[in-house]
Amino acid sequence: MFLTRDEEAMLAGEKGEGIRTAMELLVALGDIYEAKRLVPIVSAHLSGVSYKTIGEGGISFLQSLAKDAKVRVPTTLNPAGMDREKWKEMGISPRFADRQHLIIECYGKLGVDTDCSCTPYLGNNVPKKGQTLAWAESSALSFANSAIGARTNREGGPGALAAAIIGRTPEYGLHLDGNRTPGIVVEVEVEEVDYSLLGHAVGSSVGNRIPYFRGIRPTADQLKTLAAAMAAAGSVAMFHVEGVTPEADPLSIEGLERLHLGRAEVEAARNKLDRGRDPELIALGCPHLSVDEIRGLAAKLEGRKRKGDAEVWFCTSRHTAAKCPRELGVLSKFGKVVCDTCMIVTPIEERFRSTATNSGKACCYLPNLCSQKVVYRSTEGLLEMIS
Ligand code: F3S
Repeated sequence: MFLTRDEEAMLAGEKGEGIRTAMELLVALGDIYEAKRLVPIVSAHLSGVSYKTIGEGGISFLQSLAKDAKVRVPTTLNPAGMDREKWKEMGISPRFADRQHLIIECYGKLGVDTDCSCTPYLGNNVPKKGQTLAWAESSALSFANSAIGARTNREGGPGALAAAIIGRTPEYGLHLDGNRTPGIVVEVEVEEVDYSLLGHAVGSSVGNRIPYFRGIRPTADQLKTLAAAMAAAGSVAMFHVEGVTPEADPLSIEGLERLHLGRAEVEAARNKLDRGRDPELIALGCPHLSVDEIRGLAAKLEGRKRKGDAEVWFCTSRHTAAKCPRELGVLSKFGKVVCDTCMIVTPIEERFRSTATNSGKACCYLPNLCSQKVVYRSTEGLLEMIS
């Protein structure tokens, strides 16, 4: 990969150890993926925040970088392992909380915005069409590529952090025009679409091809759900929806294989995901709830009575929570409003054995990352369990 003189100097350690480490990582990535050069990024979004996922090794890595490095572009953080204020109510141990606070402090020293959310595009890190990014968090980066038309690869946490520190990323994959075109057409032939199930069915069928959807008109929140489910069920980092997403071009699908997706495929996805009964935890907000979703839930729950004894979580970001305090007051009569974290990256396995969710992404991760039996329900189905 070609490096400018400035980049060579960073790689040689002339601008500090943290910068050298970050450059080494970017050069290694660039060489693996045969990038020709580094290109400037407008923002970064980092995964690898929860103490549950990065542990002591992650803390040491961050501490060493934070000695002399700072991010050069606006950079945001994925959910952490607990609500930073209500961690005791979540049953988090003081030791876990201490280590989690330390991780967030390290990111703060690096100059990162420490509002922890997987929906930065709804608040504190909003990309524009055509901008080059280095984002980790599979649902967020797919939303940025697909719904917004910004450009990012499916970064890992360290790669996104290195790009944030250098302000550049290797130019390969989805940064290049030719890699953003569809590879398969998905004809959706169901009337009422459940976007979690659709995403799961498509994500597990298309491999690494970019799907081009026809027959659906998703809202922004439904695009978020679809992006998350496909990224978790497969490795989809970008998709197009005809007439909806900015780079969907009907002329680009000539001659492509067609996947017909009807009721049978959606039901097969439901049967695959819905494996448990009697949830101990009912969790909404994967990805984090938007203002519209919170308003919709509050409108449905207002005036109803709480039923059942399962614990209920509504997961969202602080930037979203600040915009709808009245509606969150309604939700808090039915469960905990949990910020900064989610049902996957917090250690729920220490308290619960089975979790109900309406998220195709959470269904994929709950069994392996959280040792949970999974109950899949639509949003309506979850609300019926609690009211
Ligand atoms: Fe976000 Fe956690 Fe789901 S990070 S996309 S709520 S698994």
